[in-house]
Parts: sequence; structure tokens; C-alpha cells
Amino acid sequence: MNDKHILLIISGGIAAVKLPGLIRKLSAQGARVTPVLTQSGAQFVTPLSIAALARSKVYTELFDLTEEAQMGHIELSRAADLILVAPATAQVMAKMAQGMADDLASTLLLATDTPVMIAPSMNVRMWQHPATQRNLKRLQDDGVQLIGPNDGEMACGEYGPGRMAEADEILAQVAGFFRSGPLAGRHVLVTSGPTHEPIDPVRYIANRSSGAQGAALATALRDLGALVSFVTGPARVPPPSGVEVHPVQTAQEMLAVVERLLPVDAAICAAAVADWRVEGAHAQKIKKNPSGDFPILEFAENPDILALVSAHDLRPQLVVGFAAETENVIGNAAQKLLRKGCDWIVANDVTPQTGIMGGAHNKVTLIDADGTEIWDEMPKTDVARRLALRIADDLT
Ligand code: CTP
Repeated sequence: MNDKHILLIISGGIAAVKLPGLIRKLSAQGARVTPVLTQSGAQFVTPLSIAALARSKVYTELFDLTEEAQMGHIELSRAADLILVAPATAQVMAKMAQGMADDLASTLLLATDTPVMIAPSMNVRMWQHPATQRNLKRLQDDGVQLIGPNDGEMACGEYGPGRMAEADEILAQVAGFFRSGPLAGRHVLVTSGPTHEPIDPVRYIANRSSGAQGAALATALRDLGALVSFVTGPARVPPPSGVEVHPVQTAQEMLAVVERLLPVDAAICAAAVADWRVEGAHAQKIKKNPSGDFPILEFAENPDILALVSAHDLRPQLVVGFAAETENVIGNAAQKLLRKGCDWIVANDVTPQTGIMGGAHNKVTLIDADGTEIWDEMPKTDVARRLALRIADDLT
């Protein structure tokens, strides 16, 4: 986002308290942020703190003659590369949809020819109200891009959609907007890392996946311009910057997030999802039994996320799975392609001698309906780049 200029309109919602964090992250990515604070926004954050973080003057009043002398509101509305409204309250959305111009923020939004993104934030009933949904539709028809809102607990104590997207999600969408490349404007979902299936509050079942291949893929897709939603179990390799990170622990949580993110253009399931979870995980730590009896764990099968996405009503245009095998790699992987109903399978041999699981290199075979392609051994980052280019080719 080096030197990209963002006009950030902060309206009056409790989510405005997340704005200092967002401004810090945007600035850290090289963006230049010019803040506009509405009167009600100033009830939640102070102009002084926002100015200090953005290292910029904060604009508040429409008819400030000094400001008009320095930079008129028409010029201010057009000088930016992007206008971001966060939080966007029901009131601001209604004014935008109606084309009202009764304060600085709404006047800028009406006067501009710059792309606009909004991150709504409001009570669940207000969000679901037909008037707000009508306004939203009108705004989207006008080309305004939507970020969130998320489901969650609200400051008012209710639960549901209306919670402003987190700073990282906003950052990822803004970064995606500025990106160019063959995947610009495309939304790709990547699952990654292991899952942890609890036995009791302190113990869990896991596997050796480091999340390295998934993180490398998310990075490569991001670098080709995609908006990447990265759904990751507790991995050793940290998630890349500039992607939308959704941390989860269990397979069931991973499925819930994945389904919520659909529709997307492509889904790449690189996670090493645990096939089983412990049926009725204990609420308290299991204690050693003085009589020497061992605890007996019963298992239940986890949902197969890849198979469910492949058969989903909102199936992405491209669905890619991985096959971690320890024997008959190509034969087993080819069967997996059919069984899961995905478009491609990336097969690899994870016997400990290969050092692939948890290591930095990978040797993969790509299987699709047309046949089998054996790739040389290479760093996971190179596998990721090659795969991302192939995905871009397929989607464009
Ligand atoms: N996968 C998934 N959900 C699961 C299990 C696997 O989404 N519950 C996905 C993985 O992300 C990977 C592919 O399915 O893309 C294959 O995973 P793998 O562990 O190799 O296969 P399994 O389906 O678990 O089959 P098996 O363990 O019998 O080899």
C-alpha cells in the first residue's frame, strides 16, 4: 500500500474504538491516512488521538474557512485513492443511499468519484431491517464495496450480524483493493495447519502439520492480487500479512468459518484436518485412576470440509485438495480426487523419511481430470508460487 492515500471517514459507533488499531496497521503497510471524523464519531474517539496516529490533520467541519483555503472539500474527496467508511453506521449508510449532503462526511461521499468501501457496524435488528438492507443494495448497485459485518456479540448485549469487521479483515480487503495481478478482484479461501481436537481442557489430539505449505500458498495467492481468506488451525508457521486471518482450533470450527465465507472464487484445502474428534470431550481434566484403569476415549468422525465444499450449493469455481499419503501416493490421491469431488488434488508423500510434514521442502504430484503431473522436489514457497499461477490461469 506504499503511498496509497486513504480518506478514512469515522462515524459514530462503538466500533470506532477499533479505529486507532486500524490506522496503525494501515500506516504500517505504507498507506497515507487522512481522517474525517463525524460529530458523533468524535463521541467515541478524540480528534487528537486520531491525528497523532494518522500523523495528519483530522477534518471535522464542512464550513471551516481555513480548511477551504487549504483544501476544499471537493478536492479532499477526490485526492484519495480510496474512501473507507469505518464504522459505517445505519445513519451514514442511509444518507449515502439517499445522496444526502448535510455534513462534511456525507458531502465528501457525494462529491467523490473515488472508489468507496464501507465497514458497517450496528445493532443486529438495525442491520436486518428492510430499510438498511434496501440501502445496502442501493449502495452496492452504486459500486460501494462491503467489508463485513461479522456475526458476534454486540456492545448492546445482543448477538448476530452487525458487528464491524476486525481491523485485520478490513486491512486485508483494503490491501486487496490496491493489489494488481492476475488474481486481482478474486476471492480465494485457503485452509491451513493442523486442527486440535480436545480430549479435556488441557489435552488434545493433533498432528505434525506446521502450516508452512498453507501459509506459503496464501502468500503466493496474495502476491498475485487475490483477496485471501486464510482459515488456520493452530499452526507453528505464522499467517502471512495482508490476508484475512480466521483462526480456529477444531475441524468443526473450521467448517463453520469456511461455510460462512462462501461464496468464493476458489477454495484450497491445505489443512491437515483431524479425521476424528473425541466424542464427549471431558469438561474437567481427566485424573489418573488410582486403580490403574486407563481412560477409554471414544471417537466421532469429523466433517470432511473439502468434500462438503465440493458438493456445496455455493461451490467455488475451483476446489483444490491435498492428499497426505504414506503409501501408494498417486493411486490413493487419484481415488481421493473422485471421492471428495474436488477439481485438483496435490498429492505428497508424508512418510517421516521424506521430511515433508513440518519441513521446508515438498515434492508433489498434481492430479486432475486430465491426468497426473509430477513436480520436482522444491521449497514449499516455490510449490506455492507454481500452484498459485496455475490457479490464476484456471480462474482467468
Ligand atoms: N480434509 C478436509 N476435512 C477433513 C479431512 C480432510 O477438508 N475432515 C481435506 C484436507 O484439507 C485435504 C484433503 O481433504 O485437502 C485430504 O486430506 P487427507 O488427510 O489426505 O485425507 P483424508 O480425507 O483424511 O483421508 P485419509 O486420512 O483416509 O487418507
